[in-house]
Amino acid sequence: MQTVRESIGLRAAVAAWKAQGLRVALVPTMGALHAGHLALVAAAKEQAHRVAVSIFVNPLQFNDPADLDRYPRTEEADAEALREAGADLLWLPTPDSLYPEGFATTVHVAGVSDRWEGEHRPGHFDGVATVVAKLFVAAAPDVALFGEKDYQQLAVIRRMTSDLGLPVDIVGHATVRDSEGLALSSRNALLDEAGRAAAPTLGAALREAGAAILAGERVEAALSAARARLDAAGFGPVDYLAYVDADTLEPLAERRENGRLIVAAFHGKIRLIDNICVDPDTVDGSWSPRR
Ligand code: PAF
Repeated sequence: MQTVRESIGLRAAVAAWKAQGLRVALVPTMGALHAGHLALVAAAKEQAHRVAVSIFVNPLQFNDPADLDRYPRTEEADAEALREAGADLLWLPTPDSLYPEGFATTVHVAGVSDRWEGEHRPGHFDGVATVVAKLFVAAAPDVALFGEKDYQQLAVIRRMTSDLGLPVDIVGHATVRDSEGLALSSRNALLDEAGRAAAPTLGAALREAGAAILAGERVEAALSAARARLDAAGFGPVDYLAYVDADTLEPLAERRENGRLIVAAFHGKIRLIDNICVDPDTVDGSWSPRR
């Protein structure tokens, strides 16, 4: 696996691959890699001949400086995991190379960015859209992969890529969960003992609400029951817990096809998010512990 820090090295590697007619995938990450990221690398290998992975803890998408400071950074272990996973290139851009002195341009995706994460983390999606646009321009991938755990982020990136006419296929990958159903996240490492014990309740509350909605319970009642379960597990504040349209992320008052349950809640100082597809045929809806 080749490691590059400068965009020039990245461009040269990608250009050489493309000259050979190879299809190139990019997996953008902020590091602290876990099995969810490695599943993206494995899926990328099925989508393309060469896989590049970027690790960049993007300051522009952190609305809370303390959150940026405590974001885990594990560069050596990440590089080793990517080598083992069969990535071809690791790109470690520096903040100065992506945001040089005088940098003044940001990307704002109206509509799909506005609610939920957008409301609770002002500026977050502008930071995400800006950095992803820059990563796409620098790496020129044919395809890029993102986890569904950050479901609204995926919707924002799809919209941005389509609106700007960027020639990149966007592929979403199902959330990877641990044996208790907790969605894997780099933030899980920051949970204290009580938080770690409570964390699987987040997904469990969504699955219970999803099953209730599918069984014909009123959406409002299903959401109230899920909120009570989160309260009992020590979550709070709950930033949002909603049943939404999977494409527009607008709230739904009644069961519809293409519905999704989304949640963001704090346990202590750590904020976790999760979401599931509410559909009788989906893997998420019928999730059961991995053996
Ligand atoms: O999901 C992430 O890790 C980040 O938001 C991303 C897409 C790499 C942009 O910084």
